[in-house]
Amino acid sequence: MIEYTQIKRRGRLLTSRVTEGMFFLRRFIGAPRQVGSVMPSSPYLTRAIMDRIDWDSALNIAELGAGTGVFTRVLVQKMPEEGRLMVFEIDPALKAMIEKEHEGLSVYGDACELPKIMETLEVSRLDCIISSLPFAVLPPRMTAAILDAIDASLKPDGKLIAYQYSRHMKSYFEKRFESVKISFVLRNLPPAFVYECSSVRRKKKQEK
Ligand SMILES: C[S@@+](CC[C@H](N)C(=O)[O-])C[C@H]1O[C@@H](n2cnc3c(N)ncnc32)[C@H](O)[C@@H]1O
Repeated sequence: MIEYTQIKRRGRLLTSRVTEGMFFLRRFIGAPRQVGSVMPSSPYLTRAIMDRIDWDSALNIAELGAGTGVFTRVLVQKMPEEGRLMVFEIDPALKAMIEKEHEGLSVYGDACELPKIMETLEVSRLDCIISSLPFAVLPPRMTAAILDAIDASLKPDGKLIAYQYSRHMKSYFEKRFESVKISFVLRNLPPAFVYECSSVRRKKKQEK
């Protein structure tokens, strides 16, 4: 069991949002279709995502595509002591940065591995998944594999909270969830759509 109060923040390794933004931009230039954004999410987008988590019931949470960790910082602070947070970031430099900032936190690589990691950790189902993954620009096979991994990992009444820069994913999410609510956050670069998806459809045929 991870004790979140024991995960000592060493303070932000990168001293300012500007420096952190430059670091992120360099990762974007190296792999634009993987990183999918030129800047880390704004505090407004961070709040919009965090406000949608039901903190009274969310115990097991996965964060997919943590980047420089703007959401991770808040999640670590808010996690209940008895909960479990699994963070995924495929870029090794970004992953290392998060591991260094949050000593003791479980940080993994490819989000496709989510069900396998859960099995290893003996976590049966998740209450909530936070995704920053740039589905619209990821290879379609990877997007399909990650959506399958999300389906397989969430509780039937679990929630996926994801942001995207377009409404492109609406139909994909609607095939997999009974309820998909979309809101818009203007104060982010670029402005973003927040998808709040709940009640996983288990029986219907899914797109590939
Ligand atoms: C748009 S950035 C978001 C970063 C951060 N969460 C934020 O909001 O500022 C998306 C992140 O997803 C990561 N990513 C892309 N594909 C991934 C995958 N298959 N598994 C885990 N992370 C992935 C990228 O490396 C990138 O850091």
